[in-house]
Amino acid sequence: MRKTFGILTSGGDSPGMNAAVVSVARYAEQCGVKLMGIRRGYNGLLGKSENELNDIRQLRSETVLDILDMRGTYLRTARCEEFFDEDVLDKVAEDLEKKHHIDGLVIIGGDGSYRGALDLCKRGVRCVGIPGTIDNDLPYTEATLGYDTAVNVCVDAVRSIRATSRSHDRPHVVEVMGRRCGDIAMRTAIATGAEIVIVPEMKWDLRDVIRRLNEQITNGNARATVIVCENAWEDGNMAEYPWRELLCKNGICVHGDTPFSSRHMAHVLKYECDIEARATVLGYTQRGAIPTAYDSAFAFEAGHLAVELLLNETPAENDGFAIGVRDGRVFHSSLRSAALKIDPRPFNEKLYNTINTLPYLPREDDLILIAAGNVKK
Ligand code: F6P
Repeated sequence: MRKTFGILTSGGDSPGMNAAVVSVARYAEQCGVKLMGIRRGYNGLLGKSENELNDIRQLRSETVLDILDMRGTYLRTARCEEFFDEDVLDKVAEDLEKKHHIDGLVIIGGDGSYRGALDLCKRGVRCVGIPGTIDNDLPYTEATLGYDTAVNVCVDAVRSIRATSRSHDRPHVVEVMGRRCGDIAMRTAIATGAEIVIVPEMKWDLRDVIRRLNEQITNGNARATVIVCENAWEDGNMAEYPWRELLCKNGICVHGDTPFSSRHMAHVLKYECDIEARATVLGYTQRGAIPTAYDSAFAFEAGHLAVELLLNETPAENDGFAIGVRDGRVFHSSLRSAALKIDPRPFNEKLYNTINTLPYLPREDDLILIAAGNVKK
């Protein structure tokens, strides 16, 4: 009998999700498999819409080919709280088999989506995970789908920011995404020559940032860039440094529960380093970009492998498959180990220290500015 697979995208959207859907659709069709697109992540499996087509509809390769390099995710996405409920999971697994006759499911998403997939595996659903998240925070794989694109967006933006910083001789704080993983920040800093990087993997101290920036300014570099991973703010030794008092004294009102942010850092640097500083949060621009060649090719290979695995391989009991990259090649491992592997990938502390300590070598222009006492605001 003809087989039917389902596919969904779940969690934060990431560039390359559509390319992976196209890849699965094309190869499934070539193998004679019917493919159903499930909309809005796991929500599409809850059977809540009055019109079933709002949740699950057939995907033919010719109808999805145009989405290959489309931004966002064509299938839509969501985070699904109900998927933590055991009864809901039982019902979804039963419906997948008896109502939708789906023999295998491809899930494109991050760690939360993988855990949902594992819960379905335990109920006998055959699942394959493709790591779709810009954060690169799944330790079993060297790269997640969308990470390369997000880094390229950041590098492009930081290069532009550094150009305007140079024009004005003023430093800039740039916040990038990554959740609790500093990979986007690190790669962006390396590729752009940023002078300071702050990541959740390393404790940091605002007084060191001030010291480092002052050193740079003294050497003629009044245009340094500080790259910060979004969730590293709380890892700074903020209690030790009276930033609220400093800002309030200078007319910037900060409430007791206001968290420290890139804008606050720019203000602190302004007063502590006696220089105008600016801040930019790159935010969702990183998620909505067109996939790079790397991500598009990864999506193609991952989609192809997902169909192969569902057709030809049998996972261990209560387990499924997770696709990733190892030694630069697309491979598959156990979904359970991918979903539950919580030890972080080793962080390259040496590289981090090098970025944050590389000396600035003044150029002729800088020496003139220093001599004229002109590098400050
Ligand atoms: O996981 C991807 C990600 O973009 C993170 O980098 C970010 O912290 C989070 O999603 C934002 O999620 P939301 O779409 O729920 O605002």
